[in-house]
Amino acid sequence: ARITLRQLLDHAAENDYGVPAFNINNMEQALAIMDAANQVDAPVIIQASRGARSYANDVMLKHMMDAVTEIYPHIPVCVHLDHGNEPATCMTAIQAGFTSVMMDGSLKADGKTPGDWGYNVGVTKTVTDMAHLGGISVEGELGVLGSLETGMGDKEDGHGAEGKLSHDQLLTNPDEAVKFVQETQVDALAIAMGTSHGAYKFTRKPDGDILAVNVIEEIHRKLPNTHLVMHGSSSVPQELQEIINANGGKMKPTWGVPVAEIQRGIKNGVRKINIDTDNRMAMTGQIRKVLKDNPEEFDPRKYLKPAMEAMTKLCKQRLQEFNTAGQA
Ligand code: G3H
Ligand code: 13P
Ligand code: NA
Ligand code: ZN
Repeated sequence: ARITLRQLLDHAAENDYGVPAFNINNMEQALAIMDAANQVDAPVIIQASRGARSYANDVMLKHMMDAVTEIYPHIPVCVHLDHGNEPATCMTAIQAGFTSVMMDGSLKADGKTPGDWGYNVGVTKTVTDMAHLGGISVEGELGVLGSLETGMGDKEDGHGAEGKLSHDQLLTNPDEAVKFVQETQVDALAIAMGTSHGAYKFTRKPDGDILAVNVIEEIHRKLPNTHLVMHGSSSVPQELQEIINANGGKMKPTWGVPVAEIQRGIKNGVRKINIDTDNRMAMTGQIRKVLKDNPEEFDPRKYLKPAMEAMTKLCKQRLQEFNTAGQA
């Protein structure tokens, strides 16, 4: 059944677990996620970005979402818009059947200029005012994602702020978070807590203290009814880098967010954990491997099936690690 983000994360909060939000662009990814959720009896969030919507077409996405809930009627699925850049993008997503939308006013509509307070509150409130009338949930964002290591925005990886950011912008201020939620009434709040988007998060193995747990904990304590969202939560597993690079890929050495750190986040109030990069890597590794081992092959199913299996394996693992398993 399709459920809203508010329904799902309220249950997660009552039962102390986190829910991964996996990005999709196509049928294979949707099926892989649902296979994983079904195997471990977990609810799940499937999210699509603006890029996914233009890649797959809203009508295709709408029917894919209908299809997966028909195939797996017993699995609760929240269909969420990831990084909506303006109110209109959120409204058309709702028309296309999404049960939850993110209005990311931490950046202007161009997706790279940091949005100021008035802008962020304004666009976010416009969306909550409308979405809540129809029972649709809303995620907002306060703070700009980027690397605390270098101070640089996410732009290198295709989305996010351009150029240098202050330490202030890279960690959400708890008192501002309280004010932001009071003014916008968002159901969930993405905060800057030390993660960044994409594969290149850290240049060396993190020492196990990368999240600003004090910031998460303080925001959670002041806003117990607002669900916290961790963007940029891929772990960028070394073994997936190795599979890609052993089969013709050229990923530079890199580190992501250790799962143990995400688990610390969940203990301190994080409920929605956004993962895209890990699944991209899982699929790409298998596609590269099949094509390298079998250069005569040209049937897409021969490489897409192993790619789906690798993605299912990763999703299942995260559903178990975040204690989502068994909660459907
Ligand atoms: O944070 C963004 C997600 O990873 C989606 O990426 O905009 O390339 O579809 P995308
Ligand atoms: P990753 O790039 O770490 O997978 O983060 C995805 C994300 O935050 C989507 O909104
Ligand atoms: Na999102
Ligand atoms: Zn994100």
